[in-house]
Amino acid sequence: MSGDPGWREWDERTAHELRTDVPHPARMYDYYLGGKDNFPADRAAAEAVIRAYPPSRATARANRDFLGRAVRFAAQDLGIRQFLDVGTGIPTQGNTNAVAHEVASDARVLYVDNDPIVLTHARALLAHGDEGQRTQVVLGDLRDPASVLAEAGKILDLGRPVALMLVAILHFLRDEEKPAGIVRELVSALPSGSALVLSHATADFASEQAVAEGRQVYDRATAPFVPRDGADVLEFFTGLEWVEPGLVQAPFWRPDGEPPLQAREISLYGGVGVKP
Ligand SMILES: C[S@@+](CC[C@H](N)C(=O)[O-])C[C@H]1O[C@@H](n2cnc3c(N)ncnc32)[C@H](O)[C@@H]1O
Repeated sequence: MSGDPGWREWDERTAHELRTDVPHPARMYDYYLGGKDNFPADRAAAEAVIRAYPPSRATARANRDFLGRAVRFAAQDLGIRQFLDVGTGIPTQGNTNAVAHEVASDARVLYVDNDPIVLTHARALLAHGDEGQRTQVVLGDLRDPASVLAEAGKILDLGRPVALMLVAILHFLRDEEKPAGIVRELVSALPSGSALVLSHATADFASEQAVAEGRQVYDRATAPFVPRDGADVLEFFTGLEWVEPGLVQAPFWRPDGEPPLQAREISLYGGVGVKP
């Protein structure tokens, strides 16, 4: 076990910290996606969010689909072979490593999440086959970008392009935590040709009441919910070149076919930028 509380290994202390009585965003998200890795407190909170904002499940699905398309694009069209996925979530279908390895079996993936339950599940998944060689998972916090980069430097070659995945995580950071500065610090450590894959919840396409009620639920969870408007989300891409179609509601980002009927209700932006 490392002495650094930010990077400790799975142990009894982290088990205690699972806090099954408090809703966790990772487990609520698992519930929206129809997963089984959640507890009554997570389900009750997620149901309250669904009551306030009925397209919650469709939004989670749209986010996962965006993630899959963006990873495939990064590997196939940008030729990227390294993925730094911060805010991994509980593993489900179409994880970053699975999609990346469909395109390039030698791609390396580092998962970082601050929820110990994610670490447990991800390690169990990676125990199979040779996945553990190409894919690693560590406990870490986006709010400590220097530590994230230090861990990334042990596993990835930061001299070669990296896809930095910040998918449905930045809306769990408060403005005071300076999310744009954190993104800048991470991107500035990556070489030209690297990509930022980002999705972010917004109130731009939902009623104020739905958003206020949703925020109240997350106020009782382990992380707050901070939707941001399009201008604020655009700021995360400062200095990067857009991949077409730029920043859009996630279902409209390079859809495989016709976007679903519900697409215009999805309160989530998605975009990919490339470092020149
Ligand atoms: C909504 S899930 C998104 C999972 C995955 N990126 C996806 O889009 O399918 C958000 C994840 O971010 C993690 N998370 C939230 N705040 C974090 C932080 N400050 N540092 C690291 N992970 C964080 C949560 O534990 C959760 O697993």
